[in-house]
Amino acid sequence: MDLYQAILSRHSVRRYRNEPLDKETLAMIDDIAAHVRPLVPENRFRFMRRDVVSGEDLIAAMGGYGRVLTPPHYLVAYTVGDRAPLVDLGYRMEQICVQMVQLGVSVCFIGSLGREDNVRVRFRLTRGGRTGAFLIFGRAAETVTGRTINAVIRRTSGGATRLDPEDIFYDGAFDSPAVPPKHLAKLVDAGRRAPSANNAQPWRFLWRDGDLWLLLEKHHIRYGSSSVLQEYRYFDGGICMANLMMAMEALDMPGRLHLLGPADPSPEGLPDRLEPLARIILN
Ligand SMILES: Cc1cc2nc3c(=O)[nH]c(=O)nc-3n(C[C@H](O)[C@H](O)[C@H](O)COP(=O)(O)O)c2cc1C
Repeated sequence: MDLYQAILSRHSVRRYRNEPLDKETLAMIDDIAAHVRPLVPENRFRFMRRDVVSGEDLIAAMGGYGRVLTPPHYLVAYTVGDRAPLVDLGYRMEQICVQMVQLGVSVCFIGSLGREDNVRVRFRLTRGGRTGAFLIFGRAAETVTGRTINAVIRRTSGGATRLDPEDIFYDGAFDSPAVPPKHLAKLVDAGRRAPSANNAQPWRFLWRDGDLWLLLEKHHIRYGSSSVLQEYRYFDGGICMANLMMAMEALDMPGRLHLLGPADPSPEGLPDRLEPLARIILN
């Protein structure tokens, strides 16, 4: 499967075939995880692959929501660093996800914000290590029942829908959202199809003077009321950035991604409810 197709066809799978992946595939996954591109190279990134112990309730242990049935494996990854550790983690983990999809492996993120202390203790992670979400993976259950269960769980967790491009894209000004111009349509589509906790889709896009700005809703009702859970927007924003970066590569759109820091100016007219995350300078 080519890279762009993998970005679009990734979806969360929650019902797995109850059997481990073969050794070669697991070795390829380890290799993928060891070679993902960093967003912030000075951040430390570590991952561990684990088999699910039969009967283990991963959702309860990790603090996620919903139900997953018989996933054989999961990946615990974390970043340590001062600069955007959650954005960087989302950015790296989405690359792993999409490359797994290219191998025919199914995936689903399980959020762990709000449970990070427990996760650090359980997996003996470095103090301060950030784990926004785990990645469960294996082969999807392809029986009719398995597919039906997957579709039902996906629908009930609100994952089957996405905001339309014309709800989240601004062309030049923030007056009203607009349909992206043709040359950006595929790129924006890759960004908007990113997975997010509770399918919150916190991303917004601004196209101005040859730059594509990635913005985040500062507060999203779908994340819940605590400020800790609101931090999912950074993990999800990193995922969206990874999709944009991979799509640029797949679509042969040269450009570079600039993660914004506190000293960087915001786009003029930015509404209060949004915060800028990154600027993509397209050549
Ligand atoms: C950070 C994060 C945490 C998530 N946590 C869970 C979870 O705990 N349980 C679950 O069933 N799905 C979880 N998901 C999957 C989302 O519900 C899913 O990505 C979203 O509904 C969009 O659907 P899709 O991935 O099928 O496109 C999570 C996704 C992300 C990015």
